[in-house]
Amino acid sequence: MRVLMTGGAGYVGSACLRFLLDRGHDAVAYDDLSEGNRAAVPGDRLIEGDIRDVDRLAGAIREHGAEVVMHFAALAIVPESIREPDRYWDVNVNGTRSILKAMLATDARRLVFSSTAATYAFTDEQPITERTPQEPRTPYGSTKLACERMIRDHAEGLGIGAAILRYFNAAGADADAPHGECRRHETHLIPLILSVAAGTREKVLIYGDDWPTRDGTCVRDYVHVADLAQAHLLAAEAIEPGGVAAYNVGNGEGTTVLEVLRACEKAVGRPIAHEFAERRPGDPAVLVASPARLSEDLGWRPAFPHIDEIVATAWRWHREHPRGYAGGAG
Ligand code: UFG
Repeated sequence: MRVLMTGGAGYVGSACLRFLLDRGHDAVAYDDLSEGNRAAVPGDRLIEGDIRDVDRLAGAIREHGAEVVMHFAALAIVPESIREPDRYWDVNVNGTRSILKAMLATDARRLVFSSTAATYAFTDEQPITERTPQEPRTPYGSTKLACERMIRDHAEGLGIGAAILRYFNAAGADADAPHGECRRHETHLIPLILSVAAGTREKVLIYGDDWPTRDGTCVRDYVHVADLAQAHLLAAEAIEPGGVAAYNVGNGEGTTVLEVLRACEKAVGRPIAHEFAERRPGDPAVLVASPARLSEDLGWRPAFPHIDEIVATAWRWHREHPRGYAGGAG
């Protein structure tokens, strides 16, 4: 399969790129490096460009002969989206529109889109299935739902086939890979906890101890990036012309913030400094996936179904790259 991956130098994109290359597919990354890292992509596999540049994108699709586009590139930090909705609508929605235009100008007719659990309504009915109502509560979630709808319209009218993957919490790192979870301004729980363990941060704040959950902290469904990558490959192979299918990607297991902290302490072998703080805007109490459709329809089987294994892989990467990609460490 010949694949162009927007955001292919980012955390999830680069893990998927490697997954595909390891299985003999011909994949390239298209990334503006605003968040992604050059070091996360093998030498000649990076095309630099903005997703809103239709001509450049179409040129890259043509030059690579891509049949499939996997669209990872997006702004994806919920609290930031609340402060800067316009930027989120521009990059995420206009960016997706330009990808569809570029696909229509070329022969690429299959799209795998990175959507999110943040498109679902806040609900006590867990786990979340693909039939749970979509009613985003944050600008980030709204932009992703708008993209899903735009993709559906293009599929029905113009013959683009698509798979929409609604990620829960991507986590972990590949063994021996040059890439792991590390952003310029990190906001995600596991890399923050592990940077305390690696000695580059003093403590981690836990946002809220009064949520209606078993220990008062938020519950999430953490899924390993290699398992997310497997979902992308299976979904791309199953796309029908003009059809759109949506799948949740999570393990179906909820873990509280304190349980994640304990799992990290177990992997690291010592306590990790933390402090309780106010709740963070935009956080739902509980988000757990039902991955039944992904498993039953596509045969997805996670290689890392448990949080302990996931954080162990993340810790290996952080221990070996305490400064992330800085200074060539990546
Ligand atoms: N958390 C802390 N302290 C931190 C960071 C996070 O307590 O320093 C908590 C959060 O409140 C949340 C959990 O840890 O309860 C996980 O937070 P992350 O920031 O790691 O991930 P999110 O659940 O906020 O984000 C994920 C995806 C988003 C998606 C969102 C849906 O990364 O793309 O779920 O809510 F939009």
